[in-house]
Amino acid sequence: MRKQLFIISIALLLISFGFNYFLKTGFVFSAIMIILILVGFYNTIQEKHAILRNFPVLGYFRYLFEMIAPEIQQYFIERTTDGKPFSRNQRSLVYQRAKNIDATSPFGTQLVLNQSSYEGIKHSMFPASVNHELPRVLVGGPDCRQPYSASLFNISAMSFGSLSENAIVALNKGAQKGNFYHNTGEGGLTQFHQNGADITWQIGTGYFGCRNAEGGFDADKFAEKANLDSVKMIEIKLSQGAKPGHGGVLPAQKNTEQIAKIRGVEPHTTILSPPSHSAFQNAKELVEFIAHLRELSNGKPIGFKLCIGETSEFEDLCNEMIHLNCYPDFITVDGAEGGTGAAPLEFADGVGMPFEPALIFVNKTLVRLGIREKIRIISSGKIISGYSILRAIALGADMCNSARGFMFSLGCIQALRCNNNECPTGVATQNKMLMKGLVVTDKSERVYHFHKNTLHAANELLAAAGKNSYGEVDINIFMRGDEFAHLSDSYFPDNLTNVRG
Ligand SMILES: Cc1cc2nc3c(=O)[nH]c(=O)nc-3n(C[C@H](O)[C@H](O)[C@H](O)COP(=O)(O)O)c2cc1C
Repeated sequence: MRKQLFIISIALLLISFGFNYFLKTGFVFSAIMIILILVGFYNTIQEKHAILRNFPVLGYFRYLFEMIAPEIQQYFIERTTDGKPFSRNQRSLVYQRAKNIDATSPFGTQLVLNQSSYEGIKHSMFPASVNHELPRVLVGGPDCRQPYSASLFNISAMSFGSLSENAIVALNKGAQKGNFYHNTGEGGLTQFHQNGADITWQIGTGYFGCRNAEGGFDADKFAEKANLDSVKMIEIKLSQGAKPGHGGVLPAQKNTEQIAKIRGVEPHTTILSPPSHSAFQNAKELVEFIAHLRELSNGKPIGFKLCIGETSEFEDLCNEMIHLNCYPDFITVDGAEGGTGAAPLEFADGVGMPFEPALIFVNKTLVRLGIREKIRIISSGKIISGYSILRAIALGADMCNSARGFMFSLGCIQALRCNNNECPTGVATQNKMLMKGLVVTDKSERVYHFHKNTLHAANELLAAAGKNSYGEVDINIFMRGDEFAHLSDSYFPDNLTNVRG
């Protein structure tokens, strides 16, 4: 390779001198050639990158194309129904609702309906009238002294650190205007969460905001924040769908001085929160911890968030609640398809129970043990439309949270750069220059409109199913593709042999 490079270099230098002599281009061209040649020779001796050792200059094209591959995929290759985790059609729906513009779609569905994965609502011949009030749900079990009337649809946990300060402020202002709650995420409650919205304060294994010098739980610091007026509910994070069994990850690039100060950690280092809590080690201690937080917060709703893994552990936990006669006010069930700022791929792709079976399991377990009435179920996992809200309610949820839906409403383009501080839309970055692109006044309006228009769409679907309230919704309003096939079998068993009756 070095011999070839030597020959090519001599040839290029001669050509560039020729250019200088005949075209009077000066020495610019030769200077560029000399730089390229030097880079080329350096690459033949460096030992880190095999491609560059073998292709000292052309090898850079590989890195360039790799860098812009997601953009090429999204702009030139992706069709409206593909794109992962969210299709272009799904993202456009959120953008339109957030901008409060026409969100209808032309010409008919682009989905293939005659297949087993198709799902549809069984609408009524006599639809109900659409309720224009946005639905609310009261959260607070038997021991709660400050029940909270929550919106049916809210902002799921995303920390300041994972998201930019402008993103957090815009979410908070939008939530304040639309009267729904903003979950802080495990990064803690910061000044950017204090723009008037109701707050669900999340406490993860790092106990950020209520952390003692050893990194454990500090009851006094907790009580101080938990009793703030804006804090309406407290959520203990056991796990999240994208990385169950793995603690939170704050990449070093995003751990700025400001964030490190808020969290009480070393700046510019990757912060890995431990996978488990030090304040409790088993089901009994978790239930006791719930009771402890309830006392410290003067009776505010206390719940926990988890992605279901080993089902018997969840059953044991419920039995412990019954045994101690102490219940959480809510349980947030996150599907394994949930999002994250940063997670190891093994965890994102291969750990935890998906949304649908998890939600059915939690609901059925609480019903079977006779404790469903005492506990609200909040669900999250790709809930971004009226349809997905109704589906979650049908599977057993009382309320829904959305993380990535609200990110889209802030302008997220699914660039898949949340983990390297390079989010081009300023949503999931701590880079001040990129953050400037996100204008709080405009985006907070979008957050507000996305919430309002999505819940309105859910109300319209509810009415189409002939129902007057979400309490009437159950799994029977849905039908799957294979059920449609069975339906034709049961109504027309002989239809293949006797088509005309
Ligand atoms: C950028 C980002 C940061 C997140 N941070 C947290 C967090 O701090 N705590 C948590 O419990 N879940 C966190 N999540 C998970 C979401 O709260 C939610 O459970 C999950 O993404 C599923 O909802 P979605 O499909 O609407 O995004 C995060 C998700 C994203 C996309």
